[in-house]
Amino acid sequence: MRKKVGVLVSGRGSNLQALLDACADPAFPAEIVLVISNIPGVFALERAEKAGVATLVIPHKGFPSRDAFDAEMDKALRAAGVDIVCLAGFMRLLSAGFVESWRDRMINIHPALLPSFKGLHTHQRAIEAGVKLHGCTVHLVTPELDDGPILVQAAVPVLATDTEDSLAARVLEQEHQAYPLALRLLAEGRVTVEGNRALIRDA
Ligand code: GAR
Repeated sequence: MRKKVGVLVSGRGSNLQALLDACADPAFPAEIVLVISNIPGVFALERAEKAGVATLVIPHKGFPSRDAFDAEMDKALRAAGVDIVCLAGFMRLLSAGFVESWRDRMINIHPALLPSFKGLHTHQRAIEAGVKLHGCTVHLVTPELDDGPILVQAAVPVLATDTEDSLAARVLEQEHQAYPLALRLLAEGRVTVEGNRALIRDA
């Protein structure tokens, strides 16, 4: 049985597209059953609709608290029978209760080689720090921001001529490879967590 995936988005959804493309192969061990956006009208929603996947807009602004907003998302994910949640450019902090209830079943992609450059503006900060390698990380989500056991990382060189945009584009190409791979590992049940480490069977 393919694992059922819910994807949370806030924007253009290129990582969602990479996941949709991977799931289009019937041999892939997961299928996307629901895409939720906290922002109306974003391109990610169009991508989902085009792929025939159910979408839901839950605008965070309409809720009195983070807990109330998260509870609404949780309800929708469970109603859709979701097994695994993927955060794909979802730009909202999640409450500890929501994170806890999806523990070891929720993954995030971050545009940096964690634990370096948590938070925002990662590419500009990498250039300013003078690092020679930068990249992306897919990790299990824990209550701490941009933390949690790492499933997949991919590195790219930082060139002397790089701008924030050129570096972002090079990293994004890797994101689109890394995210489907991480989802596959989790969906195939090959991940076990020991402390801060995710151990991958037959990596
Ligand atoms: C991606 O680069 C993703 O790594 C980043 O937002 C972008 C979303 O692009 N996520 C974060 O910064 C999360 N902290 P996309 O909507 O085209 O997938």
